[in-house]
Amino acid sequence: MSDITDAARAILAFNDRGGYTVPTDALYPFQWNWDSAFVSMGFATFNIDRAYQELERLIEGQWDDGMLPHIVFHVPSDTYFPGPDVWNTHHRHHKKPTTSGITQPPVFGMALRYIYEIALTEGREDVLARTRLLFHAALRSHRWWMKVRDPEKRGLVAILHPWESGSDNSPAWDEALARVSTITKTEICRQDTKHVSAAMRPHHADYQRFIHLVEVYRECKWDPVKQWSAAPFKVADVQMTAILARATADLIWIASHLNLLDEINELSTIHRILLDGLRGRWRNNLRGFVSLDLISGKDIQKPTQAYFIPLIAIELDTYQREAVQDEIERWCNGMIVGVPSTAPFSSDFESKRYWRGPVWAVINWLIVDGLCKNHLAELAAIIEGNTINAIERAGFCEYFDPITGEGLGGNSFSWTAAAYLVLRH
Ligand code: DGY
Repeated sequence: MSDITDAARAILAFNDRGGYTVPTDALYPFQWNWDSAFVSMGFATFNIDRAYQELERLIEGQWDDGMLPHIVFHVPSDTYFPGPDVWNTHHRHHKKPTTSGITQPPVFGMALRYIYEIALTEGREDVLARTRLLFHAALRSHRWWMKVRDPEKRGLVAILHPWESGSDNSPAWDEALARVSTITKTEICRQDTKHVSAAMRPHHADYQRFIHLVEVYRECKWDPVKQWSAAPFKVADVQMTAILARATADLIWIASHLNLLDEINELSTIHRILLDGLRGRWRNNLRGFVSLDLISGKDIQKPTQAYFIPLIAIELDTYQREAVQDEIERWCNGMIVGVPSTAPFSSDFESKRYWRGPVWAVINWLIVDGLCKNHLAELAAIIEGNTINAIERAGFCEYFDPITGEGLGGNSFSWTAAAYLVLRH
């Protein structure tokens, strides 16, 4: 085992708050949904029990209707805004801990399969009951996605808040977010810019709109049907849909192992619907997949990493495969580390600002996985190697400047450590 692998494990230990892992100290002091799913896979490379525990702690926050919230506030902290009082979700799930009111990409099902497969290779028959319990939590959340976030049956699931996408200030949301009011009743007391330079974070006007959206949904008392009608921001997101489709395939794999026939049928129907939805979002001229703004009815053409995420779920045809390869190579041309989260030739590109250009190790992990699935192993190996090098050079930072390779955002970041462990595994 290398020193850097040791260092990655040490970061997970440092960010462990008792069976769950914070993304990083102070900047993100609670349990985040998709961070934890990635982190659990990192743990699985050396500690299966701790990997299961990460997911078990996450479902402590699952709502009665199946939603897995994006933040679980296990213990109070004053280093993050907005905290539980701004969300005010208590009535939506009748048990502690309190949570935020929105969700995040459902990597959970992918993580569960990853962990379970390693457990099986280690001959760990004792994980069966734990797997079954987590499987059913994931299934409830997938049912929630289909019912609540695709009520008009497009085969695409929608986000009602940019924070749900995980790519908070991506240029993909600019036009849709511009329609959202900047007026808020809540005083905006940002903490993030006390931990990280404001030049690497969303702008103040973004935060006003983020909080305005929280207030709209809080006034709906977090009732999903009311939220759907009231939402001033509603995007059928290809990245979210792709992750849901892939996680659904992974749940089908688990259900087959557990011999759960009804569940296999139910999940297979969901899977078919999502794949059909995704296939319809490919655009030849853009050489990628595009999200749909459900309020304007228009394609979101901004070139972001989401273009390529559907590869984790679907098999491209030969034309698409060549087009994606060319496009990713174009985005990475001249970069010390790709894949940038916004294309470098786009006028929206900012190499240091959060989701407007920087490279994210977990996104590269997904892209590598999708390229391998689509028989583009050579390109996958290049991106994997560059990601590992970037981490070894700059440390376990939140994200990386693609032009200089500089580490940016929070330090000692759990999911970057997890990405290192998994890519090296
Ligand atoms: C933040 O606060 O920066 C998060 O991305 C919201 O989840």
